[in-house]
Amino acid sequence: MIAFTVNGERRELDEASPSMPLLWVLRDQLKLTGTKFGCGMGLCGACTVHLNGVAVRSCQLPLAAVAGHSITTIEGLSPSENHPLQLAWVAEDVPQCGYCQSGQIMSAAALLNTGAPVNDDSIRNAMSGNICRCGTYGRINKAIKRAANAPKEA
Ligand code: FES
Ligand code: FES
Repeated sequence: MIAFTVNGERRELDEASPSMPLLWVLRDQLKLTGTKFGCGMGLCGACTVHLNGVAVRSCQLPLAAVAGHSITTIEGLSPSENHPLQLAWVAEDVPQCGYCQSGQIMSAAALLNTGAPVNDDSIRNAMSGNICRCGTYGRINKAIKRAANAPKEA
């Protein structure tokens, strides 16, 4: 049995192989399909989730590696779907086809989690592994800056 936390909820998996990529566990076993399969090789970022608040590629992470740890997926980013990034994504009308976008948002959220200054350089560094075939990079950049400058909730 492998136990870990997903979006604040403890999950225990009896059947899954320890070597199964986390992405498969999330999508096929836990039915959290917001996280996308793109390349399966750690190259596109579509499968990005947080492991203890840090962005990771779930296609490259075996289930055994997350035992006892905390995973956050796009579904768990904000219970009321009003995370500053989600609001900024809407305000900047970021997505085109949308396929890469949950991974983009999770990478951006990990950047904001660090508390580091948000500027073109830090955005480029944090987001360089997230590919968008629709070329929404300019709007992603604007949305991250908008979210970083949003008033904090009291
Ligand atoms: S599907 Fe994981 S990086 Fe592309
Ligand atoms: S919005 Fe289509 S791949 Fe990014």
